[in-house]
Amino acid sequence: MAIEMHYGDYLQLDKILDAQTLESEKRNQPAHDEMLFIVIHQAYELWFKQLLFEIDAVCRIMQVPALNDNSPELQTVVHRLGRCVTILKLLVHQIDVMETMNPMDFLDFRDMLRPASGFQSWQFKMMEARLGLKYEDRTGQDLYLSRLRPSEIEKVKCAESESSLLQLVNGWLERMPFFEEAENWENFHAAGIASVSNPFLSAYRTCYEQSLSDVEKPNLQLFDQVFISGFSGTPRALSAPASLAALFIMVYRGYPILQLPFQLLNQLIEIDEQLSTWRYRHMNMVHRTIGTRIGTGGSTGRDYLQSALNKHYIFKELAQLTSFLIERKKVPRLSAEMEKRLGFAA
Ligand code: HEM
Repeated sequence: MAIEMHYGDYLQLDKILDAQTLESEKRNQPAHDEMLFIVIHQAYELWFKQLLFEIDAVCRIMQVPALNDNSPELQTVVHRLGRCVTILKLLVHQIDVMETMNPMDFLDFRDMLRPASGFQSWQFKMMEARLGLKYEDRTGQDLYLSRLRPSEIEKVKCAESESSLLQLVNGWLERMPFFEEAENWENFHAAGIASVSNPFLSAYRTCYEQSLSDVEKPNLQLFDQVFISGFSGTPRALSAPASLAALFIMVYRGYPILQLPFQLLNQLIEIDEQLSTWRYRHMNMVHRTIGTRIGTGGSTGRDYLQSALNKHYIFKELAQLTSFLIERKKVPRLSAEMEKRLGFAA
């Protein structure tokens, strides 16, 4: 006879609920808020685990070279990234609970934690790496190497060595077929400039230039660097063709075939936004709790967190593309062939 499943066994609650050992109690100086401090961190780590699980699954799907833009797989990617966004929103709100601990309550046990710190959360660092944060772009690299255990560094390095979501998205965008299919552009007659061979890019550049006010004119140089010439000496995560494909998706997102790709790009920008909101709220909470003192992990505390907030945007090149959007009525009109290809019969 099959053994009946039991709630507590299934969730292994013995292990989870037996994992809150208060350091302050061990030292016979009980600090009431230490329980909250532990539970919140544990809850975060569980959610980090779930986020990593979702990001890994999304990367596995995105690794398939021939991923169809109108397929159930892409739907799954969008759905799972949407879940990541929702979890991140929850993580931002969890800071409200943490903030019910006031600075004096934290001081009751803070010194007992040294040198432990959220900085040693290898899952958090793995998550950043799987999304696309490179080691060389991190602030506080020395700290990362000195504060984590060798086995944890190994895990983060391993995450850094795999293709990140950002790299996979770049590859997926580069494979976007519409520019390759010459028949889509045969009857596309929009004013452009001869020096740019891609008809859409040429026409869009002209429309973009016309949309710029005098003070905005320098933006055209940025446009050319992003979509044509590249930035000398500054490696970019998104190649020029990938950036152009992303712009195309953003501009023509109303066409059926581009709706899922647009949602995908939007979820990535949203992930960055939620992560940075978390960083900002965490930094303010830290400032409110320990002022300008150094962190238990030995960093400069608030200043370190401010620098991570400024530097650790992962999908910033995607977000930057909004600078190149123009009014809907001014965007180049696509040919009937192209409209058909994108899902609206002409
Ligand atoms: C009163 C509560 C908290 C204080 C005072 C605090 C303080 C700090 C400080 C000062 C740092 C910088 C590293 C260091 O020198 O220690 C840090 C980093 C970090 N903390 Fe907290 N923290 C608190 C709560 C939390 C919570 C609830 C989490 C959830 C997991 C968390 C996760 C992290 C992470 C992931 C980092 C590394 C951030 C990065 O490298 O960008 N912290 N924390």
